[in-house]
Amino acid sequence: MKSNQTLHIVTGNKPPASKQVNGEYLPALADGLRVDTILDFDLYIRQHDNRYVLYRNKNLTFTRENAERLKATEVGCVCISAKDREKYLSYIENQLPQIVRDSSIPAKRKTTLLYKAAANTIRQVITKPLTSAGLERAMSIADNVTEHLATNPGAFEDILRTSPSEYSTETHSINVCAYSLAIANSMGKFGHEEMRALGTGALLHDIGKYKIDEDIINKREPLSTHEWEELKKHPEYGLKMLERFEELPPGTLPVVMLHHEKVNGSGYPAGLKGNDIPLAARIACIADIFDAITSDRAYKGAVSSYEALIKMSDEMQGLIDSEVFAHFLRLLQF
Ligand SMILES: [Fe+2]
Repeated sequence: MKSNQTLHIVTGNKPPASKQVNGEYLPALADGLRVDTILDFDLYIRQHDNRYVLYRNKNLTFTRENAERLKATEVGCVCISAKDREKYLSYIENQLPQIVRDSSIPAKRKTTLLYKAAANTIRQVITKPLTSAGLERAMSIADNVTEHLATNPGAFEDILRTSPSEYSTETHSINVCAYSLAIANSMGKFGHEEMRALGTGALLHDIGKYKIDEDIINKREPLSTHEWEELKKHPEYGLKMLERFEELPPGTLPVVMLHHEKVNGSGYPAGLKGNDIPLAARIACIADIFDAITSDRAYKGAVSSYEALIKMSDEMQGLIDSEVFAHFLRLLQF
């Protein structure tokens, strides 16, 4: 980074993962409960003396009156039973298109709802055998992230702050998706289908790692030459896993296949150079590196966004696309 460049960026590390209330109940954002929908989970109120009181039974329509009463009453935290977590997050996932567009919900709470539901969705999609229905859910998450970034100023910063520092496959997938789409949004070169392809490809960029021995994926010590060669096959494995799904937009597979290519030709698996690497893959590459540096792993601690940008500026010149990186730097200068 140039010494005369002034950065006013997020300087802290990512927050730790949020903890549940007491093992039996979890906080739920009332903003996510949509009028005229049926909630298939019970609602509880945590009172000021930390007692949990059943507020509403499941399988009832959530009416406007319910919503207004909930807002008007000086009640404590709205909660769900921990056993209903998946049901609640599936409900939020289904409501995301409306939630993201609802101007009455503060952007920060939209980000929280989107991030939590997306993490649950992506974990389910990538840890089970791939299906068309699962990929439809991934594409829908990509669409919702795109809409959120385009219509809510500050959404990118909120996502950056919401992302926990502890690494998990699902949060890494969402972060790479959100950072990639934020860069593409700021560049203004991508249409709707291309954004969907980039976002979906970013969500699934490391899916091929599920074909690699877990001992290699989780190894703390440096990898042997053989292990490293095996790990480098994950983009091709990912391509093989996804190429039979014709419903994926055409730009999705190049992101999965080429997210480790470097503009000087030193990347893998194809060793492509410069603009021979599709723009979407050059974007995903930068988002992937940034999230890897700012995440806590078993073998290394997380660093702040600021330190990550310094490190990338110092160590990745000639490897990553400078124009894309300049856009990313501008996004982080707030
Ligand atoms: Fe990768």
